[in-house]
Amino acid sequence: MQKRSTFGSKFGAIAAAAGSAIGLGNIWRFPYVTGENGGAAFIIIYLICTIAIGLPLLLTEFSIGRFTNRNVFGAFKVLKPRSKWSLIGVLGIATAFVILSFYSVVAGWTMNFLAESVINNFAGKNSSQIQEGFGGFVASGWRPIIWSIMFIAMTAYIIISGVEKGIERYNKILMPVLLVILLILVVNSAFLSGFKDGINFLFSPDFSKINGKVVLEALGQAFFSLSLGMGTMITYGSYIRSNDNMISTAGSVALTDTIIALLAGVAIFPAVFSFGINPTSGPDLVFITLPNIFLQMPGSYFLSVLFFTLLLIAALTSSVSIMEVLAAYCTEELKMSRRRAGVLIAGVIMVISSMCCISQMPESSIRIAGMNLFDLFDTLSANYMMIFGAFLTTLFAGWFWTKSKLRGEFTSGGKYGVKIFPVYYFIVKFVSPVMISLIFLSQIGLLGF
Ligand code: PHE
Repeated sequence: MQKRSTFGSKFGAIAAAAGSAIGLGNIWRFPYVTGENGGAAFIIIYLICTIAIGLPLLLTEFSIGRFTNRNVFGAFKVLKPRSKWSLIGVLGIATAFVILSFYSVVAGWTMNFLAESVINNFAGKNSSQIQEGFGGFVASGWRPIIWSIMFIAMTAYIIISGVEKGIERYNKILMPVLLVILLILVVNSAFLSGFKDGINFLFSPDFSKINGKVVLEALGQAFFSLSLGMGTMITYGSYIRSNDNMISTAGSVALTDTIIALLAGVAIFPAVFSFGINPTSGPDLVFITLPNIFLQMPGSYFLSVLFFTLLLIAALTSSVSIMEVLAAYCTEELKMSRRRAGVLIAGVIMVISSMCCISQMPESSIRIAGMNLFDLFDTLSANYMMIFGAFLTTLFAGWFWTKSKLRGEFTSGGKYGVKIFPVYYFIVKFVSPVMISLIFLSQIGLLGF
């Protein structure tokens, strides 16, 4: 049998998993969800969720992946042959299709905005022109389709290049670039008049704002941001070398992911406050509000080019990790070559994401449950499929997998983190299943908060 690929170094593994975690979720979703949920108090709950539930689940997914050395479907087949647990794999694969289809649409918008920034197309426009520009772009249907097809082709190119020569290599280059760009934007924001207000909004909590819904939103954001509940981290875990310290790898990933989200907040909110824009403006924050704000700032040309480059890098390294869930399945279970798998998956995603773009045109009649396909896929994946996947995964690890095997993998054969294993195991067995079922029940409306 051919030797299975692994990441070549621990830094490579961290860069790849952090590249997956750091995505549109940090730079597009985190700021607007924070804005909608009252700022600092939400952030505190989000941090608690990340440390207490997200990080343990990340370790569980890494353990399952590295123990089985398989893709998400194969992993559960190895752990419990001929049982229904492989359905977690099927769910993960379905979720990957769903997320990738709408994620590449937003990534396509990002590419379009980057191109417009580069040719200085925003210059001289007022805010209603920017808003109309964005509306007209989405309404055209064909323009977002072309950009998202290009984005999917880029993603597939990296996948076809391989685990070490593609995924690891590009992440090792792109993640440091992302950090440098973000730091430039943060420094810029420190000179804005709204810096103090922005920082206060992010870091001085008003605890009266915390309620059940805020807690649930925070947990959902923590899962989405750490790429949990759909097999991405199982797949990447399977490429971590068996003697690497998995705990510090996972810890570094969770820490970088959180720091980047906070820095994105620091880069964005002072600008929002400096120009008197409402921080609760929602998903449009990045695509309509920011170009607007940039226009009013000195150096706007460079700021918008840098910002959309940042967003594109974040989107690309995450979508690579989603496509790898599918590619690993096709190569290992269906015995396809990587090239054939990449081409096939990209083709399917191109068709579905084009349908998402078409369904966003105002005259489109594609509607399911009152939503266009784009909104449906967004809601379906983040609010239902990933949470359900996360619940089944933690349930499996806590109650249906042999404790000694989980401990062996978690501690890399007794080498690291032996003392913290009991705490971790308690969370996996009791805390996580209870907390996740609470959010899930509230999402499907069985529990009112
Ligand atoms: N974590 C990514 C982000 O923050 C999104 C993602 C979800 C990536 C699921 C992989 C799997 O944008």
